[in-house]
Amino acid sequence: MDRTNVGRTAQLTTRRATTSLRERAAEVLWANWTGTSTVPSRQLYPHQWSWDSAFIAIGLRHLSPLRAQLELETLLSAQWGDGRVPHIVFNPAVPLDAYFPSPDFWRSTTAGRTAGAPGAIHTSGIVQPPVHALAVWLVHRADPGLSRARSFLARAHPRLAAWHRYLRCRRDAGGAGLASVIHPWEQGMDNSPCWDAPLRRVPPADPSAYRRADLDHGAAEDRPTDLDYGRYVRLAADYRDRGYADGGGADGGGDEHAGGVGEFAVEDPSFNALLIASEHALARIEAELDLRDASVVRETRARALTGTLVERLWDPADGLFLCRDLRSGDHREPPSGELVPERGVGGLVPLILPALPAPVAAALVRTACGPHFGLGGPARLVPSYDLTGSAFDPRRYWRGPAWFNTNWLLERGLRLHGEPTRAAGLRRALLEVAGESGFAEYVDPYTGRGCGARGFGWSAALALDLLLDDPAGRDEEPHGRPAEAPSVAVTRKRFRDD
Ligand code: SER
Repeated sequence: MDRTNVGRTAQLTTRRATTSLRERAAEVLWANWTGTSTVPSRQLYPHQWSWDSAFIAIGLRHLSPLRAQLELETLLSAQWGDGRVPHIVFNPAVPLDAYFPSPDFWRSTTAGRTAGAPGAIHTSGIVQPPVHALAVWLVHRADPGLSRARSFLARAHPRLAAWHRYLRCRRDAGGAGLASVIHPWEQGMDNSPCWDAPLRRVPPADPSAYRRADLDHGAAEDRPTDLDYGRYVRLAADYRDRGYADGGGADGGGDEHAGGVGEFAVEDPSFNALLIASEHALARIEAELDLRDASVVRETRARALTGTLVERLWDPADGLFLCRDLRSGDHREPPSGELVPERGVGGLVPLILPALPAPVAAALVRTACGPHFGLGGPARLVPSYDLTGSAFDPRRYWRGPAWFNTNWLLERGLRLHGEPTRAAGLRRALLEVAGESGFAEYVDPYTGRGCGARGFGWSAALALDLLLDDPAGRDEEPHGRPAEAPSVAVTRKRFRDD
């Protein structure tokens, strides 16, 4: 075979691999679709999860912009009167014992009544990272005509604005402007070693009072421990028994400080970075809706909040953002707490912020590429926790494995801060590992071996997004639609039923 033929054969093989990855990812999203939303996994997570839905919509928009819109609308329709978007929206057709904690644990329609929980939909009472405005904006961009015809942005906007207001006002337990999480499930990285110290002061619930359903479907060594679960259950039950009250007045300005009641309150860099990224997205949504003044105010606030994030959580010695445990240290009001000296991937996520000072962004890139996270070096994908940390475990959920959503966020951050070569390397690795692992929920960061569920919603969706989104026309510029490759149209044609 001459050189030209070798080149052509290689091209053909790559094209075939790409096509098959695209189709396999689309099959996952097709199989996990329930009619109004997408489950992260049929067995392990059989309901709708808040941040999963946002990431899933970002991939789904390439196959069916209508389904992606519905995904987010279904979630937002379960919003509570106080603005919170619950972390789970339960599917009433799924048996109660399929997932724990089930609706009869959360009792949202009764315990959440004062906080404005919907009367006819069962939800959890805690929240998850606010990726939604970013997802709404990207979904709009995938088909602005359809979005306008369905008033997608106009209907989503008041809900997103109320959601962000809830986080900024009712969850500002530290009084500095950042939102705090009151449960590790809220931040989404359930058993990250970053939570070990703050959780140690939470007495676990009686294990005979509940039954874990996750171990029916997942290997015990891939999942959080029983002791972790005891503490998760205890924190959630206490919050429920307080009527899901966050403290503070309607705008967080009451006598009691907002978010200041429970035993666990942490300012997390990733949660807040996603809130700020979503504030930027909401500013774009407002500009698109001709709400010019609101858009300018929001953009200015997003930039100011980036400054607060740096002041409050940046650790220059580590070159990383850390969590602030508001229940540690002295007991001032509002609490200032102390930084938790653990290196979690959440500390790299602020790289997605456009207003991050250049030296901070450069230091984050160095940290990502150094011995703790191994990007472009020994790690195939960026781990969830410090490769050199004493608590590192390559398979146990958020104590080391690499996850596709955090790697997708870092790929965006690298591109945003002028690191296209590193971003391209991470994109390639993410696509390879996604395909090899059967879109695993998470993977060993060194080998890429899959752990947890397979056919996992956001793993498929975000791989699809990296495959199909045109880097040249990505969402950094506020107007216009990214060019659509012909292959996208083919996949859409095959999979859309709308
Ligand atoms: N991640 C949690 C679980 O494992 C809940 O959000 O069920």
